[in-house]
Amino acid sequence: MDISPQIAVIDFGSQYTQLIVRRLREAGYFAKLFLPGELRQIGAPRGIVLSGGPRSVSDPDAPDLDLPFVESLGVPVLGVCYGMQLLNKKHGGKVEPGTTREYGPAQLRPEPGSVLFEGMSESSRIWMSHSDTCTELPEGAEVVGRNEEGVPVAIRLSESCYGIQFHPEVTHSEEGNTVIQNYLRLVDDEPRFRMDSFKEQLIEGVREEVAGREVVCGVSGGVDSTVLAVLLHEAGVKLRPIYIDNGLMRKGETAEVRAQFGELGIDIEVVDAGARFLAAIAGVDEPEEKRRRIGDLFVDVFFEAADEVELLAQGTLYPDVIESATSGSDASTIKTHHNRVQRILDLQAQGKVIEPLAELFKDEVRELGESFGIPHEILYRHPFPGPGLGVRVPGEVTAEKLDIVREADAIFIRHLKESGWYDKVWQAYCGLLPIKTVGVKGDERSYEWALALRAVVSEDAMTADWVELPPELLRKISNELLNSVAGINRVFYDVSTKPPASIELE
Ligand code: XMP
Repeated sequence: MDISPQIAVIDFGSQYTQLIVRRLREAGYFAKLFLPGELRQIGAPRGIVLSGGPRSVSDPDAPDLDLPFVESLGVPVLGVCYGMQLLNKKHGGKVEPGTTREYGPAQLRPEPGSVLFEGMSESSRIWMSHSDTCTELPEGAEVVGRNEEGVPVAIRLSESCYGIQFHPEVTHSEEGNTVIQNYLRLVDDEPRFRMDSFKEQLIEGVREEVAGREVVCGVSGGVDSTVLAVLLHEAGVKLRPIYIDNGLMRKGETAEVRAQFGELGIDIEVVDAGARFLAAIAGVDEPEEKRRRIGDLFVDVFFEAADEVELLAQGTLYPDVIESATSGSDASTIKTHHNRVQRILDLQAQGKVIEPLAELFKDEVRELGESFGIPHEILYRHPFPGPGLGVRVPGEVTAEKLDIVREADAIFIRHLKESGWYDKVWQAYCGLLPIKTVGVKGDERSYEWALALRAVVSEDAMTADWVELPPELLRKISNELLNSVAGINRVFYDVSTKPPASIELE
């Protein structure tokens, strides 16, 4: 499904590029990312934004821009950071390495009357991240903003072509959204990106792509696969949602997922493969080997159940697509590791895979889910890893250990929900440490497992911080765990940040 963007964002590799796209979409404009080499595929956007990037425009192999092509589109252009330097250079100005690298906050002093900074304060905090500077502007260009030392940080190269040295897309730039809004006012188009109308486009697109074929999809009860299944269901396609119970799910999870889908009017096929998974990882304690066996078996079990696939729907999201594109289409770098195994690549080559959510960010998927009436508790569930409790029981996984983790996790999560902490935490779980320690139970010596509680906040799972749960809450939780979960005599609270730790134990 290929939906043309209103604004094309050209990605020169900045860590903030995705944020530009999100800000434009939040402002109601459907924006999409393209690599500089994809310029001819951008369709007929009404505006072009050039992102920042880590390189210097003077590097011989720095990413380039086909300026005549961009100019031929006749739409407003905004260059951010590297984008500004590139515009300046391509228009005939000069860019030189700065004497110092400039990272972090600065002040923007807009020149009076500048359209790009209309409605902004006389001095506004902005976020810089660059080392090169535009030392000479091309003929006809003018400075429209300076920093507190009077150095130009914003230029106007032609009637509707601007360059800014700072990042309006990051929240540290106080009035960054006003800059984006002002740029969008130059664009000859209305804000049209609203989920209710986009939803209709998606449904229409799905119907066209499916063209009467039967669609198989995997469901886990997580946000993406649930929204995907509901979208397909709403589009009225013949659907087979398959749920694999790998024996590594949480307490009561399979029944819950079945009931949740039932309420949404969707019948799921449950494949009970717990015994096969436990047998496949019996005696394995090396984490990567464990993950590999779980992942491989998942694919086998799924395709056995699916049998002849006419069409497979995947819940791939926009960030996964961007990630694989910017890393040179190296499919192995995709995070969601089930999405690109050989079997699926083969189906893809035969035109038998659709990815209807591939245009959307996670928060947009949630918004879409809301518009379908999917309950809040499903859309805001904490993430749960593909290998399930397998990565929360370091070392050998046994049925006994899984039972302990299931019981404990249900208690921990119930307390978080009852105390209102569940929604403030990004992810929380119980893991079972691979050690037994000595304790006293009644008058007896005990020698039992140790439990770890983990609760983190994160933006994108790349970094995470542990959550300072109130001590009285931790006390309540640990009391209940020690009194009611058989097989443990100790509870630890994990106070490790990521990095250097990871969110999961394995
Ligand atoms: P780590 O442990 O790498 O986890 O800090 C980061 C986030 O990714 C989730 N995770 C996975 N999700 N399949 C998934 O779908 C996996 O194999 C997997 N491993 C980790 C983890 O729960 C956390 O949200």
